Order: sequence, then structure tokens, then C-alpha cells
Amino acid sequence: MLSIHIPFYNLVLQPFDSLIISAVEIVKSLIECRNKVLSLRAENTNVGFVPTMGALHQGHLELVKQAVNSCDFVVASIFVNPAQFNSREDFEKYPKAFDADVAKLKKAGCDMLFVPSDRDMYPTEPAINISFPDLQKNMEGLFRPGHFEGVSLVVSKLFHTVPAQKAFFGQKDWQQTLVVKRLVSDLLFDIEIVTVPTVREADGLAMSSRNERLSPAQRLAASIFNRCLRRAREQLLAGTPIREVELMVSSEFQSGQDLELEYFEVANRETLEPVSAVDTTVPVSLFIAGYAGGVRLIDNIFLQEETDYTNAN
Ligand code: PAF
Repeated sequence: MLSIHIPFYNLVLQPFDSLIISAVEIVKSLIECRNKVLSLRAENTNVGFVPTMGALHQGHLELVKQAVNSCDFVVASIFVNPAQFNSREDFEKYPKAFDADVAKLKKAGCDMLFVPSDRDMYPTEPAINISFPDLQKNMEGLFRPGHFEGVSLVVSKLFHTVPAQKAFFGQKDWQQTLVVKRLVSDLLFDIEIVTVPTVREADGLAMSSRNERLSPAQRLAASIFNRCLRRAREQLLAGTPIREVELMVSSEFQSGQDLELEYFEVANRETLEPVSAVDTTVPVSLFIAGYAGGVRLIDNIFLQEETDYTNAN
């Protein structure tokens, strides 16, 4: 059927059909947000939640898409959480694109956007410290001290304010997803955590808000993260010992320009314990983090199966 799409207004005109105008309601108040979600739930509406820090890319929009597909009403949030940055500079440089984000959310079918203020989210200096030492002792937890404490705190506040039935998180932040799942089970949050596969650029680079900060040369070089993971997967599945694969990854980084490897880990996907040899009956993931120029990037893939979306639209 012929339809006319006017992107700016997300207006779709279809003959013999109704006029569909979708708009994202923007809510700033915590009380208003919570009451709205509670009243939707009281009417048996299935609410999905996509927490973000803004500067939205295709990876975030995939989370929204999955939420739209499985829920009746989708709430996204944008809040750049100061508590999860371990460097003031990184926090201040975090990209912001509010108007573009609203337009993208509207197009993706999001119904409501929650944008709390710093003051409402942190009315007082928090005294609580939420930590999961077994899940945080390696990788992001080790290299970004305090990061997961900050994530757990803000996600708890967000889950109280957006009491949805489902929340959507990206596989790119796999360690974060495990931390959030543990938070939900330990604090009895009544919410299901859905993990959505990573969306990638054509050369394999995982979509990230930080990619915007890469210069053209750094952007080209950044494909090394996913390339190394894929090569490592091939070698491990062919029986190459983990130590040799680790050496391959570090020598790739050493031969590149303006690149720094922070870690490459082969670990149990559920416990995050490093493995010393690959046993294909145990679910294993490969994790990598480092810098392209001054920009810190992370990525991970499953050893046993492919789950990523490449260049999804
Ligand atoms: O993954 C993110 O964007 C953030 O860590 C989150 C979950 C929105 C918490 O600030």
C-alpha cells in the first residue's frame, strides 16, 4: 500500500487508514514518571524500559526495537550518571545530542522519555555502596574502580522510578548485564532483564556513543578490537592454546598506531572467571578493552555462537 512518510514529524499518511502521529512524551519529574508507569501497569499494560546515557546510536535503537516488539508501552531514559565515571574528564567529554536523541526515539516507536536531573537523582551524597565482588574483580571492574558501584546505584534508582516489567541492555556491556541481573535478584526487583545482541559497523566495530570521539584515523584503527576477537575465536576453536592467542592479540595492538590494549580475557560467560583452556561444553566469551587514541573502547563475543547484528537498520 502506498504510504507517505514525513520523517521530521514521524507522520505516516496511509489511504483508507488512520493518520498515525507518534510523539514521545518527555517526563522530568521522578514522581510523575513513577505514577505514569504504575497507572499503565494497573491497566495491564506491559511496560518495557531502555535506560541510556543518551548520544543514541543504532545499538540503543535496537534495544528500543526489541522493547517495542515485546511490550505495549516503551519508556527510555537519558541520564549521564556521574557516579559511574572514574574520570571527571571522561564524564565531561561524554557526548550529548538531546534533540537528535528525541527524534530517533520518536522514529523507533518509544512512547515516553524520562530525563531526570542530577539533583533529583542524587539529592544527597549517597552513603550506600552496592558491589558484587565476584563479578567485578576482573575486566571493567578492575580497570574502572567504582564503575559498577555507580551503575548498580543508578540502575536501582531508575528501576524504582520506572517500575517496568522488562528492561533491555546491550550485550556489548556483558559484564554490566550480569551485574544488573544480580542486582535484580539480590534486591528482588520485579523486572526481567533482556540482553540484546551487539550492533556493529560494517567493519565489526561495536556501536558505542564513544565512537563519535574517534578521529577518522582512529576510527579506522578501532576495527582492531573486533578483528582480534574474531581471530582469537577462530584460533581457540582450532585448538590454539589461550596463552598463544593472548600473545597474538597483544602483538596486533603493538603493531598498530595510537592503540593500547588494556585487557583481553577468555572467561566463563556466566561467572566471568578466566578459563585456562577451552572446553566447548562450558559457555565462554572473549572480552577486550583498550584505547584508540584517547578513546576507551570495549567489546566481547561469544566463543561458541555468533549473536551480533552487523550494520542493522
Ligand atoms: O549502559 C549504560 O548506558 C549505562 O551504564 C546505564 C545502564 C544507562 C546506567 O547509567
